[in-house]
Amino acid sequence: MSRQGTTLLIFGASGDLTSRKLIPSLFSLFCKGRLPEDVAIVGTSRTQMTDDEWRERLQAGLPGEVVEEHWSNFAPRVHYVPADATDPAAFADLNAGLIRAAGGDQGNRLYYLATAPRFFAPIVENLGAAGMVDHGETWSRLVVEKPFGRDLDSALKLGYDLQKVFSEDQIYRIDHYLGKDTVQNILFFRFANAIFEPIWNRNYVEQVQITVAEEEGIGYRGGYYDGSGVLRDMFQNHLLQLLTLTAMEPPALFEAETLRNEKVKVLRAVRRYSTGDAVESTVRGQYRGYRDEEDVAEGSKAATYCAMRFFIDNWRWEGVPFYLRSGKALTERVTEIVVQFRSPPHVMFGSDGDTPLRPNALMLRLQPDEGIHLRFETKVPDTASEMNSVHMDFRYGEGAGDGPIPDAYERLLLDALEGDASLFTRQDEIELAWQLTDPIAAAWEGEDLPPLAHYPPGSWGPHAAEDFLAESGHSWVTGKDTTRTE
Ligand code: BG6
Repeated sequence: MSRQGTTLLIFGASGDLTSRKLIPSLFSLFCKGRLPEDVAIVGTSRTQMTDDEWRERLQAGLPGEVVEEHWSNFAPRVHYVPADATDPAAFADLNAGLIRAAGGDQGNRLYYLATAPRFFAPIVENLGAAGMVDHGETWSRLVVEKPFGRDLDSALKLGYDLQKVFSEDQIYRIDHYLGKDTVQNILFFRFANAIFEPIWNRNYVEQVQITVAEEEGIGYRGGYYDGSGVLRDMFQNHLLQLLTLTAMEPPALFEAETLRNEKVKVLRAVRRYSTGDAVESTVRGQYRGYRDEEDVAEGSKAATYCAMRFFIDNWRWEGVPFYLRSGKALTERVTEIVVQFRSPPHVMFGSDGDTPLRPNALMLRLQPDEGIHLRFETKVPDTASEMNSVHMDFRYGEGAGDGPIPDAYERLLLDALEGDASLFTRQDEIELAWQLTDPIAAAWEGEDLPPLAHYPPGSWGPHAAEDFLAESGHSWVTGKDTTRTE
């Protein structure tokens, strides 16, 4: 690898992602001494600004208390070059700006597309045409944010456009869920412990639930969200990523290709729905008031809530339902994976047969209040045969390290700079994920089925989601309680 310095160029520098996530994460890495010594950070967008104006803006947007001395050490690494990234003629100046920022050095390049998706292909084409990709001794990489298309066809087209200029191993596609420490911990929990893996299969697991609930509505993102809905916004990416990590086989090595190969095997094994099956296997809803949100079409049918059931057709998981649900404007913000184990084959406690017994469940609470909880039954003291469910708890914050859990972007930016693609999504994963969600989108758009249920904000979503699980004798579990819908 080259010893030359690295320049990180952020397209979309005046946008929210840059000021809310990227720069705070880079600054935090810098304060922790993790940012490589020789990194220059350059922002570009059409807005005319000087270096100092951009720096002031960024500093004002940093969360929490900023130690002035840290910022004044960090700020000289940050530069700004205005450019219209859709104009090929602008790239000569942009390149000159990068070389200036790097102290006259061509160096390695990390290009970060923090722009609207319609700019991805033109920017990449312009980078290629300007000769800004690959320079013999040095490396260039591309970081792209979702959405990676809006269906399989557009994802293939985007993949093709990116791969015309960058090879697949130069492309780092972000699913920010993979940057979360608690999400990576799914692998550590599963594969650094010997006691759970032997029961992590169809012989012992009754069902798995993956919940990504959000308390907020869509806020100011109506323009994007209304064309996308919960299926494209959350399921095709974050929920399916959580599914793969929960269900995959142990890779032999903790490195990008072996890890991603195992995830791909899971996606290949997930049963594909026909349009008819998709209707049977999903519940969709929209929160009341959604249609009055800014930039939402009148009478919009976009789903802001979905619950679905997948099956994974392989030896480990045959017959075990994986219930996935996600929605906006729900009771609380919680991301959690619940593995519910089978009930004992025979229960000898209680003579009337009604002694309530809750099956064991392992809850991986990914956010907030991060932790892992194991639910099991105990005898209530001083009773003859009453039982009670109790929890064995682990909480991050109590023994998992000193500092707060860092933002996902810290890990992802550092890994992209260091060339570790383990936590980035490969093109084949993207395509397989679309193959799973496209039939559902088609079912919903086609005959308008299942019906779009309207749920009150602040609830757990439509009643139909409870009935959906009840049909199989299951119910939703969140945290330490069973959660009910509205
Ligand atoms: C984004 C979606 O990818 O993830 C948003 O576009 C969603 O709609 C967000 O709110 C959730 O991320 P997190 O990290 O807050 O759970």
